[in-house]
Amino acid sequence: MIRELSSEETALFKEYIEKTAAVVAALGDRPAAYLHSYGCQQNVSDGEKLKGMLYEMGYDFTDSPSDADLIVLNTCAVRENAEDKVFGNIGAMKKLKESNKNLVIAVGGCMVQQEHIAEKLKSSYPYVDIIFGTHTLHELPRMLYDKLSGGKGCVNIPSVDGIVTESVPVLRDSKLKAYVPIMYGCNNFCTYCVVPYVRGRERSRRPEAVTREVKSLIAQGYKEILLLGQNVNSYGKEHGVNFAALLRALDAIAGEYKICFMTSHPKDCTKELIDVIADSRHIEHHIHLPVQSGSDRILKAMNRGYTAESYLELVKYARERMPDVSLTTDIIAGFPGELREDFDKTLQLVKTVRFDMAYTFIYSKRAGTAAAKLPDPVSSAEKSAWLRELLEIQGEIGLENNRGFIGKTFEVLCEGHDRHKPEYLTGRSRQNIIVRFSGGEELIGKFVSVKITGAMPWAVEGQTDV
Ligand code: 5AD
Ligand code: SF4
Repeated sequence: MIRELSSEETALFKEYIEKTAAVVAALGDRPAAYLHSYGCQQNVSDGEKLKGMLYEMGYDFTDSPSDADLIVLNTCAVRENAEDKVFGNIGAMKKLKESNKNLVIAVGGCMVQQEHIAEKLKSSYPYVDIIFGTHTLHELPRMLYDKLSGGKGCVNIPSVDGIVTESVPVLRDSKLKAYVPIMYGCNNFCTYCVVPYVRGRERSRRPEAVTREVKSLIAQGYKEILLLGQNVNSYGKEHGVNFAALLRALDAIAGEYKICFMTSHPKDCTKELIDVIADSRHIEHHIHLPVQSGSDRILKAMNRGYTAESYLELVKYARERMPDVSLTTDIIAGFPGELREDFDKTLQLVKTVRFDMAYTFIYSKRAGTAAAKLPDPVSSAEKSAWLRELLEIQGEIGLENNRGFIGKTFEVLCEGHDRHKPEYLTGRSRQNIIVRFSGGEELIGKFVSVKITGAMPWAVEGQTDV
């Protein structure tokens, strides 16, 4: 269950924030913390809580590890290459520690929640001071206090299903878009996925707590609320309020804003939910609906709980109710035992659905998952070739879809300057399509009408309607 900390626990949490703040203040002018979150938005949201606590304890933030007095890495375990990156970065930090003995290094998050990784960190990277799992974020102040007041550092990784508190302060990265976790953990045990092992069972926040937070964010001027969970469609089982009902309640809040959510699971995405989105004022006409494979044999081996046919039916219903709906997906190429004929079915499904965007991955073996025990005879070169084929097909479909938007007018939440072409502004439409356009600074943070004039594979460009 998610619960508030008890009054004693809250008092202790606050006491440690204050005690750590006193030690941090003695280090001089607000010392600098470097915090990096790898992986999904859920992790970024945890990172915003870590930042909130660090700020209250007196830290400012830096983008450069070499300027930092404290380094916090909030890690991801979903694929092996994410883990390799983290080990590479921690390895590079040995030099920093040698040149600054007072530097404190903390490593937390999903990757560390795995026993073999925690062991490897302890034995091969002894200069890491604090190691914490996914269930002990609120204990960061105590761990930091112990270290800063002369302790040896600590390892704090209780097994799954710890407390997720409502009481932790949050320092948000954006003034425009707010991440709001509505549930934690996952019960699905897709056979390739490590998430249920590192984030524990599903726990939903109380609907009143979510509604209170969203109301307060809208009152503060946030324009985009992104509701987060590994499988938002199974929200609320313990509260008797399902995801559709939660969305309906949030949509009733007055104001100029949009609501987005991720991730949906096709087996739990109901027609009721699609109806609520279609009939709403504020909910984006976009569903991120990971299909993973187009082959029923592979879907079964993945334990996904739906077939290609039932997935296509859901897509058909969503498009009937919302002709402008944008659909995006995740696909894994090269699941153990997948044959070329299975992958052909995935390509066929991609051509049938015509997704606006697909996030594609080569299968990565994760220790402890059911799929890790399966024979996996296809070579990685062959899997890479499959992936390239998929990317090419999807790239063409994305471009054709985007060309179809030329001449239409989108309402776009202007997020700021385009990263690659800063002379342009950028934002996303109500369908979550990326739109690049020209215009003045004053449009940033506003909903702007943009007429689409051109298309790229990943985005469209246009002109403000004046
Ligand atoms: N290998 C490759 N991709 C994976 N994903 C999850 N686990 C694995 C894995 N072991 C992908 C899925 C999921 C997305 C977040 O990451 O497509 O939807
Ligand atoms: Fe992993 Fe499946 Fe849960 Fe998504 S639904 S987090 S893929 S186990």
